[in-house]
Amino acid sequence: MRMIVTTIAILGISLGALAQQQEGDHDALRGNVPLLEERTPEPLYEVENNDLRRPRAYPMQPPTIPHKIDNYQVDLNANRCMSCHSRQRVGTSQAPMISVTHYMDREGNFLAELSPRRYFCNQCHVPQTDSPLAVENTFVDVVELLRQRRETQE
Ligand code: HEC
Ligand code: HEC
Repeated sequence: MRMIVTTIAILGISLGALAQQQEGDHDALRGNVPLLEERTPEPLYEVENNDLRRPRAYPMQPPTIPHKIDNYQVDLNANRCMSCHSRQRVGTSQAPMISVTHYMDREGNFLAELSPRRYFCNQCHVPQTDSPLAVENTFVDVVELLRQRRETQE
């Protein structure tokens, strides 16, 4: 009896380890390194800082940030992003103004100031680096999908 219990326990542990290992193996963001192993960290990649606005993948996509944001303070006391992107500042900064959705509350009312739900810019906007893709991506633009459908219908 004791023998069976031990065997089951060992089987359980090894199955668990196997599952964990497979989990790690399939996580591309960890570089396919098993969970229990330490991975070699990625090098630090250059942050895109070319002042060229990127196209958006779909109309409601938050545009990516085409400039560095190192040390830009965004907290209770200050919002550095707004010192260039607010309605009042774009005249001098020549930055694109935050769009009208950033002045709307969740009921759709237009506010005089930045809406609290849009205060933490980096929740939605992120800078880009020149790193290789961490996970594979098969995204196809909707315009391309529509074009393909029109072609198959003809
Ligand atoms: C010193 C002024 C300045 C500050 C501070 C600044 N930006 Fe910008 N931002 C710009 C300018 C100018 C552009 C236009 C493209 C360019 O010249 O880089 C821009 C472009 C952008 C864009 C691209 C818009 C589009 O339509 O593609 C986003 C998003 C953005 N900034 C977000 C931010 C966020 C988030 C912060 C704070 C973490 C921030 N910016 C701080 C000046 C600034
Ligand atoms: C909850 C998500 C969210 C947050 C937070 C947010 N944005 Fe956006 N932003 C968007 C989306 C989505 C768009 C594109 C659609 C739109 O304009 O609403 C956008 C558009 C923009 C644009 C382009 C405007 C244009 O007309 O081309 C700028 C610049 C920008 N955001 C800056 C900021 C800054 C600066 C902050 C912080 C003060 C901020 N955003 C906070 C989601 C967000």
